Formats: sequence, structure tokens, C-alpha cells
Amino acid sequence: MELISSCLLLLPTIAFSLFLLKLITSSLGHAKLPLPPGTMGWPYIGETFQLYSQNPNTFFASKLKKYGSIFKSHILGCPCVMIASPEAAKQVLVSKAHLFKPTFPASKERMLGKQAIFFHQGDYHAKLRKLVLRAFMPEAIKTIVSEVESIAVASLDSWEGKLITTFQEMKTYAFNVALLSILGKDEAQYREDLKRCYYILEKGYNSMPINLPGTLFHKAMKARKELAKILAKILSLRRETKQTHNDLLGSFMEESEGLTDDQIADNIIGVVFAARDTTASIITWILKYLAENPSVLQAVTVRISILVKLQTKSQLFLANCLKNGVLSFEQEEQEAIMKGKEESGEEKLLNWYDTKKMPITTRVIQETLRVASILSFTFREAVEDVEFNGYLIPKGWKVLPLFRNIHHNPENFPEPEKFDPSRFEVAPKANTFMPFGNGIHSCPGNELAKLEILVLLHHLTTKYRWSMMAPQNGIQYGPFPLPQNGLPIKLSLKS
Ligand code: HEM
Repeated sequence: MELISSCLLLLPTIAFSLFLLKLITSSLGHAKLPLPPGTMGWPYIGETFQLYSQNPNTFFASKLKKYGSIFKSHILGCPCVMIASPEAAKQVLVSKAHLFKPTFPASKERMLGKQAIFFHQGDYHAKLRKLVLRAFMPEAIKTIVSEVESIAVASLDSWEGKLITTFQEMKTYAFNVALLSILGKDEAQYREDLKRCYYILEKGYNSMPINLPGTLFHKAMKARKELAKILAKILSLRRETKQTHNDLLGSFMEESEGLTDDQIADNIIGVVFAARDTTASIITWILKYLAENPSVLQAVTVRISILVKLQTKSQLFLANCLKNGVLSFEQEEQEAIMKGKEESGEEKLLNWYDTKKMPITTRVIQETLRVASILSFTFREAVEDVEFNGYLIPKGWKVLPLFRNIHHNPENFPEPEKFDPSRFEVAPKANTFMPFGNGIHSCPGNELAKLEILVLLHHLTTKYRWSMMAPQNGIQYGPFPLPQNGLPIKLSLKS
């Protein structure tokens, strides 16, 4: 009996010792692992200068050639591991996502708002993500197609006959669509004030984080406070009127979700920020690639024209197209489009299903997302020492999945620099195409982005022509890669 009770007493001690032993051996195991190959450059500065003094792609490409697809470096004051293989990027973003948290400079967090979705992991992130996805999933954005279309038509009309800077105008377009999906139609009265504040905020976003009167950073922080005030006004008006709204703000305001007003403001400000320049850059690149590839432009236009004609309910035209093999999509789908139009009575307006029947245009968008790879990489940080494919990634090191390099690897995409939408007729290999990221932080706005691009291209290619003002070979970074000077073009109505 005594023997049994002393054994029982000993059990916790043995278990604890085993636990300690495991901890020691596992940390020794980690310590024995080598760091990934690569160089760290100068103390503190690291290799920041090498990265930013040239085209960043040249820096990454030369490192890849020398060290392979996982290598270390030191940029912007941080030791980093760069990841350029699809499988390893998937581990960081999906299967081992709990070991790699999102990370941003403190100044960016302050500016967008510390409680915004981008900066979080765990339960709070999951709750926000559920709410954001609810507002941007196809079921929700289906209902705003005609309003997106009105914004597209009005924007094109205002550019007609003018010399425009594509990127600037597309920013306004993407901003207006983002506001529609986030705040609905009711808040149009605040649009100009919100726009003005955002322009100041964005100028400060990439400036030196010096918060002294007169600096861009200081002005941006003031604009941010003003944005929060406008949102507080909208929140209190909505509470007074007690109406339910199907937009993102409505989703955030649901009482059961228990978000504070500050949390709501941080997330609204952040989502608008995430929605605008990304979408505007992609549309700018699309216009450049279509102008440079007339045969692709023609294929997009003709296909879209067919869709337009189908909307006039011409059964004869449909029958001919199908007979001549011009239409490759299913007859049922076409009939569904026409039936839908007949029932709604809105003959010429696009609807969600129309946008799902634009395969060539969709491939143009995919190929532009690949070639332009506007988010060249993203940042994560190891939350503990991580054993990663035979290497040690020490706690606190930054980890950068290199989207652009994966999208430009000839093993994944032959002749990667060539703009060839037809390559997407076949699905890309698993994990090689991640324009919207991967895993729990992947882009919840991707359906909205694709919708607004398709709707704009529909009207642009069927009614307008455009020409670039000069040969466009240069690229500027602001911070996304963009055609030089934001792509000045002249837009005119087709005769
Ligand atoms: C062509 C346009 C767009 C591109 C290329 C793009 C790309 C991305 C990428 C790559 C990420 C993941 C970043 C990471 O893993 O660190 C992301 C996240 C995000 N995007 Fe987009 N995006 C676009 C448009 C939009 C739009 C229109 C919205 C909103 C309406 C949006 C809202 C967000 C949000 C809220 C996140 C953070 C998600 C999270 O942390 O859970 N994006 N985007």
C-alpha cells in the first residue's frame, strides 16, 4: 500500500521532469538546426539599400539563384526569411499559420487603427473575418451589381474625350464602389469629406513616421481622427433610425457581435484602405495590357458584345451564335440570362450571372494579377522558434512569402514575362497563384474586386476606345508597382 502511495506521489515529479527534458531537447534540437542560407548585410541597415536601390525583383531573383527558394536577409531593421516555393508559402500562410502572425510597422497600425482586422490573430480576428466575409460574399454583393454599374457608367462618361491619369481616376472609381459596399447608398452625403480625408491619410501612410506639426504623418493622423468623427456621426444616425442595413457597417453594428465604436471605425477605415489602391492598380495594368495586345482586346470586346446583344432578347441571334459555335457556354445559362432579364424588366442592366459568363475577361484579370503581382510579398513574424523545412526560423524573425517570384517562376508559368491570358484556360498548379493571398488572412474582398473590374471592362470595351499617351515601359512604385506616371490615356466614344 505504502509502495503504491509513494509511487503515486512520485508520478507528478516524473511527469514534470519528462516535460522539462522534452523542452530542453526540443530547444537543443532547434538550436542545432542551421539558419537558412543567405547574407545579412551591414549591421542594422542589413540589405535594405540593395533591395530598394534597384528593381526589387532583381534583388530577389539574384538571391534565389544563389541560395534556392528559402533564404535569409536583413531588411528595414529586421532579420527576415524569404520564401519563394509554393509549398513553403502554403505552410507559412495556411498549415502553420498559427506560428506566423501578421506584422506591420507600428506607425501603420497607429494610422489605420490598432483594432483593424489585418493586425490580429485568434478569436477577435475570426469574428471580424466572419463579419467582413458576410458583407462581401457573392450572396451579399449580388444585390449591388446595378449600383456598381451606375458608378462605372458615370465614371466613364466623366472621362470621355479627356486626357486622364488612369490610376488616379480608377482610385476614385474603386473608392466609390468600396463606400457603396461598406456604407450603402445612404451615406453618399459624406462621400466628399471621406474622400478628402483618405487622400491626406494615404499621403502620410508612406511618409516618415514623424508626428510633428507640418509633417505629412501629422496631417495624416489628423485626417484619421476626422474620419473617425464622420463614422461616429454615421453610427449615431443609424442607431437613431434603427434601420437594418446589408452593408459592411450594418454587419459590424449587429448588437450580438458586441464590437465597440472604436473597433468598428478602425475596421471601416482599414477596409476602405485595402480596397482602393489594390483594385485601382490592377485596372490600370489591365488597360495597359489590353492596349498593347489588340487581339486580346478584340476577344474581350467581341465576347462582351455578344453578351450585350443577348440582353436584347434576340432569340435569333442566340440561335445563330450557338449554331456557328461563336458561343461556347451552355445554352441553359444563356436562357437563364434572358429569362432573368425578362422577369426583372431591366433589360440592359448587368446582373451577377452575366458577370459569371465573361470567361475571356476573367482570364485577362487573372493574367494581369499574375504578371503585375501588385502585392509582391506579404509579412509575417515567427511567434516562437520554428523548425521549418530543416532550418531554424528564430522567434521574432520576419517571414516573407514572395508572391511575385512564385508567379514569375517559369516552372509554374512558362515564359512568365509574357502577357498571355490563355494560360489560365488550364488551372494553375496548386498554390502557385495567390494574388489574393492564402489561408486565414486571404483577401475577403476578392469577389467584389473582380465584380467591379468586370463591370467597368464591360462598358469600357463595348463603348469606348483608349490610347496611351506615350510608350509605357517604365514602372513606378507607390508602393504598388504601376505603369509610369499612372498611365495617362485619352478616352473617346466609339463611333
Ligand atoms: C485586386 C484587388 C485586390 C488585391 C490584389 C488584394 C490582395 C490582398 C491580399 C494578397 C491580401 C492578403 C494579405 C496577407 O496575407 O498578408 C488581402 C487581404 C485583405 N484584403 Fe484585399 N485585395 C484586393 C482588393 C480588396 C478589396 C476590394 C477589399 C475590400 C472590399 C479588400 C479587403 C481586404 C482585407 C480586409 C484584407 C485582410 C484580411 C485578413 O487579414 O483577414 N481587398 N488582400
